[in-house]
Amino acid sequence: MFPQMDKSNASDLSPSHPVRVWMEEHDTLLGFLDRLEAIAAEAGKSPAGLEPNGPVRQALVKLASDLLDAEPHHQREEQALFPRMEEVGIEGPPHMMRLDHDELRLAKRALKDHVSTDAAADEAFVERLCQVADFIVPVLRSHIQKENQILYPMALQAIGADGWRAIQVDCERIGPCSFTKAK
Ligand SMILES: [Fe+2]
Ligand SMILES: [Fe+2]
Repeated sequence: MFPQMDKSNASDLSPSHPVRVWMEEHDTLLGFLDRLEAIAAEAGKSPAGLEPNGPVRQALVKLASDLLDAEPHHQREEQALFPRMEEVGIEGPPHMMRLDHDELRLAKRALKDHVSTDAAADEAFVERLCQVADFIVPVLRSHIQKENQILYPMALQAIGADGWRAIQVDCERIGPCSFTKAK
């Protein structure tokens, strides 16, 4: 079995270690997903506040932007981490994570486009909202769980200190997300 990583392991890493930063960003993303799930569930019961410029619609636009703002997180994984895993022969898991990223990029963009229009909050609007949310929420939650519990522990075992220093340099070049906590 793959080694498991929990918060106690993660907290053994220095605050600026790329894995620690990624896991903290995951916590923030999970909070966004909880809110998206709650708003979609509520929208299925009542369209109150979902009209263009309504408070719930505005919250959805912000939420969709926040989810898209995870792009530097995914870029750091794709450009800094995955190539070093592939160099040491770990090819399958990074490949699967890249496929998730590609699917999630499309779905997050679809969410942003959907909620940013002037479309009335009618049945079709709510149905599409729920359809996109029903994809993003479980797929991103599962992606985060796979990275936290499988991919990062594998990388920590397989990559040495020099490799992690190089990863950190690449991560700093790519930069934080709008929601990354300052160190
Ligand atoms: Fe990822
Ligand atoms: Fe991630």
